[in-house]
Amino acid sequence: MRIQRVSSKWAKTEVILQNRSLAPYIPDTRKYDYSVLNEMLVLYETVYIKPDRGTYGCGVMRAERRNLILTPSGAENPEAHEEENAEPSIMYILRYGTKALAFQSMEELHQAISGRIKKRPYLIQQGINLLRYKNLSFDLRVLVQKNPEGRWETTGLLGRVAAPQKIVTNYHNGGSLLPVEELLAEHMITADRSSMIHRLKHLGVRIGRQLVKAFPDMKEIGLDVAMDDHHDLWILEVNTMPSLVAFKLFDDKSIYRKISRYAASYGRAGFGSSSLSSRSKTHTRGR
Ligand SMILES: Nc1ncnc2c1ncn2[C@@H]1O[C@H](COP(=O)(O)OP(=O)(O)O)[C@@H](O)[C@H]1O
Ligand SMILES: [Mg+2]
Repeated sequence: MRIQRVSSKWAKTEVILQNRSLAPYIPDTRKYDYSVLNEMLVLYETVYIKPDRGTYGCGVMRAERRNLILTPSGAENPEAHEEENAEPSIMYILRYGTKALAFQSMEELHQAISGRIKKRPYLIQQGINLLRYKNLSFDLRVLVQKNPEGRWETTGLLGRVAAPQKIVTNYHNGGSLLPVEELLAEHMITADRSSMIHRLKHLGVRIGRQLVKAFPDMKEIGLDVAMDDHHDLWILEVNTMPSLVAFKLFDDKSIYRKISRYAASYGRAGFGSSSLSSRSKTHTRGR
């Protein structure tokens, strides 16, 4: 059985945008070029610049526009607008890895970005101000699979917390995995947490249904979902070869067991159906 994978973030974004009720979940996303950088940095204070076919947070950059008030001595001073000689000035910060570089013009910023992009296709996306957990940014992974009945089902949810100084939350970039309930507990009461988890699961299923319209052999997807200060949800990207082993981490072993069983049913490599059927029998007997 074929499992369809689509590596281009742009191709997947276009398909989601065709659905009017799902489009609001996609941050403004465009193909990178200098004029788009200009336009986006006027609209948004922060933008993310990322490879169209990237993974693991590799090659992801963040550009920020900052309004500084400079005193005549040149020192940054937020109170300086009180002073007569203070001049407003704009600065651009480019961040990647744990580096931060400052530029005085958009041209210089673009030069630095282009030097890193080289000739590869890159996207630029409205930056979402991620919620924080113990002062570190986090986002969420929603795993959605075709179940043996052929219907999309959300089988896993995970929180991903960025390492200090990092602009990405990816595990392969030093991030850590935590249960979603724990991350949301800092931000909402139990009832709101449950309805948020329900919304996340439902969003995953809706995205699965939309993507198969264009990619009929898709069987599994992993949504990277950001939550902002207003608790609005944003889909940063959809992975078509999502990590399944990440879900082994839970104390509740039935989660990974179900994920593996579904993966075996649509034939994901490494998830043989013979060894699993005996394991799922054990599961039915306990509890
Ligand atoms: N628009 C954005 N706003 C805020 N954070 C973002 C944005 N885009 C990406 N990120 C951060 O960078 C990480 C990697 O970006 P992503 O689009 O998922 O690429 P990759 O395929 O490399 O995982 C995300 O998980 C998130 O932490
Ligand atoms: Mg990702």
